[in-house]
Amino acid sequence: MSHEENKIEGKRQEEYIEKCRLYVSAFAVEHGQPPKACVVTFGCQMNARDSEKLSGILAQAGYELTDAEEDADFVLYNTCTVRDNANQRVYGRLGFLNSLKKKKPYLKIALCGCMMQEKTVIEKIQKSYRFVDLIFGTHNIFRFAELLSRMQASEDMVVDIWEETDKIVENLPVKRKYSYKSGVNIMFGCNNFCSYCIVPYVRGRERSREPKDILREIEALVEDGVAEIMLLGQNVNSYGKDLENPMSFAELLEAVEKIEGLRRIRFMTSHPKDLSDELIEVMRRSTKICRHLHLPLQAGSDRILQAMNRRYTKAQYLALVEKLKHAIPDIAITTDLIVGFPGETLEDVEETIDVVRKVQFDNAFTFIYSPREGTPAAAMENQVPEEIVHEGFDKLLAVVQETAKERAALWQGKVMEVLVEEVNEQDPALVTGRLGNNMLVHFKADRRLVGKFVMVALDTCHGFYYTGRMVDWLGQTKHTRLGKMVDNQWLN
Ligand code: SAH
Ligand code: SF4
Ligand code: F3S
Repeated sequence: MSHEENKIEGKRQEEYIEKCRLYVSAFAVEHGQPPKACVVTFGCQMNARDSEKLSGILAQAGYELTDAEEDADFVLYNTCTVRDNANQRVYGRLGFLNSLKKKKPYLKIALCGCMMQEKTVIEKIQKSYRFVDLIFGTHNIFRFAELLSRMQASEDMVVDIWEETDKIVENLPVKRKYSYKSGVNIMFGCNNFCSYCIVPYVRGRERSREPKDILREIEALVEDGVAEIMLLGQNVNSYGKDLENPMSFAELLEAVEKIEGLRRIRFMTSHPKDLSDELIEVMRRSTKICRHLHLPLQAGSDRILQAMNRRYTKAQYLALVEKLKHAIPDIAITTDLIVGFPGETLEDVEETIDVVRKVQFDNAFTFIYSPREGTPAAAMENQVPEEIVHEGFDKLLAVVQETAKERAALWQGKVMEVLVEEVNEQDPALVTGRLGNNMLVHFKADRRLVGKFVMVALDTCHGFYYTGRMVDWLGQTKHTRLGKMVDNQWLN
């Protein structure tokens, strides 16, 4: 959208926010307090970022935000449809909301996000979930204020789903979940059409944001106390190809790196087929880009990779990892794996296991293939019987856990820089912090350190996390060995 169009749309939505505020005031008079809104997010980081925008609009409209659905007067589910269990969870919870609404008839219920871009879902809700008040999709969330206002004035279900959009609307209000870290969208949609995946159908084609808009947003976030950002896109490595003045992802990263006050840069997700040497070089030189790369493999068998339309081979993936590890020896590599793609045999799964052993992933999300309606893979005839899928899945998971443990043990005894994220849920005397490589460590510290960087000695590795203790800035506590990685970080 041009700057001018953006301004006009922004104005329009502001007018609707004013309208919503009238409803909120009337509600407050009737109930003695403003309405409480609860936004529940399913799915990925992109949905989480969208939810922050939706929450921002609700807050501007005067709603009080709550995490407790039972207390809410307005519940919004931001849904995911990447696997069927994500959908089933939404249907299950809708049953619960229905029971809440029976006790509190003025409760309003809204659904948005990826699941709503599927026709069959909308039909099902219109037929069997009549108590839902508002449904919208992924392409018109910038019109949320307008839709909310329509819902407030309507007795009937309001449904507004767009097939596609080429618009990117800037400057929506945002209510961040964390004060010290934030996601930043750099692009929307996906053009890859991996044969199992529904994302391109529900999120539309790739659209990159203008670099100046991205940089301005990050600068404002840093100004507001954010130390760590995660650049978000379904395939960040193809960022910028569609811009009027094309720019590579590596070039964008270099520009982001220059932002003063920003301490950590992460990004998600990288498609192996588009990961450039230029990007590896920028990562190697950077002092802010975290030593972590999420590089989804999906499968190790060339036959399956081809049927998945991933456009790389096992050998190419291994060569890429080799190159990465050579350039950045301390890099943590994580991945996504699918078991049970149509036609996959146990021998094919062995190929995946072989890659896991060779790469030594620091972590891997292992999924059971879920047929998604409308995708090429769902129509394939050779769907794999459940017992075979489970057998392969269990075998793969065991190896994944074993190698991830071995990797984690490598850092035991080192001192590393940690961003303190939260007070530990189980023990309030502890805080939980995140290392640059994305691992978590629990240690004793004052809760006022949340959002701050501290040095922590990683005393004990517990497989997927550490327990440790805070040390001074030079790591000079008695039982501490100073790791090489720390030296690098300090010298830079
Ligand atoms: N854009 C990202 C991932 C998006 S979805 C990428 O390309 O890497 C996140 C993960 O869900 C995928 O990496 C894949 O492992 C998994 N996934 C996607 N569709 C799936 C399906 N139909 N069944 C099982 N897992 C799936
Ligand atoms: Fe789905 Fe493939 Fe696009 Fe990732 S790259 S979102 S797996 S189609
Ligand atoms: Fe799910 Fe949509 Fe993300 S389908 S994984 S929420 S892009």
